[in-house]
Amino acid sequence: MKLTKVLFVCLGNICRSPTAEAILQKKLLERKIENVYVDSAGTSGFHSGQKTDRRSRKVGLEFGYDLKSLSRQVEVYDLKDFDYIFAMDDSNLENLLSLSAGKYDEKISLFLDYGSSELKYVPDPYYGEGDSGFIKVINLLEDACDEFILDKLL
Ligand code: 4NP
Repeated sequence: MKLTKVLFVCLGNICRSPTAEAILQKKLLERKIENVYVDSAGTSGFHSGQKTDRRSRKVGLEFGYDLKSLSRQVEVYDLKDFDYIFAMDDSNLENLLSLSAGKYDEKISLFLDYGSSELKYVPDPYYGEGDSGFIKVINLLEDACDEFILDKLL
């Protein structure tokens, strides 16, 4: 069976994209879908090697997601290697398309093209106050993951 590879990308790879990675991984496990590899990366290398943001890990655990990934910067090779490359916002999308330089554009899209939210972008919770931004991120990503699985992975 062919392996499908999914990469989530945000700016720092310490809040939104590692949360998306953990959510999709858990949903695939629950549905016993085994032929999908999920990873995440950041357009910046500011936090390379660091654990996911403490607030994302705390709120993630409360929703049943154990966020264990370490931050890394996206590379051109990822664009060749992965089948789906999902940007969290317009700035990530622009950066990915610039890295692609026209070669892999068809694999790159906004993740909130999936799901029922009116929002096009997953709001960056990093500078927000309290847990609410992180909870919002989880809600948006769970909904988009459900539709992505139904649409592309079943
Ligand atoms: P992320 O959030 O892109 O969802 O990981 C951010 C993390 C760090 C910074 C900005 C956004 N930062 O400026 O360091």
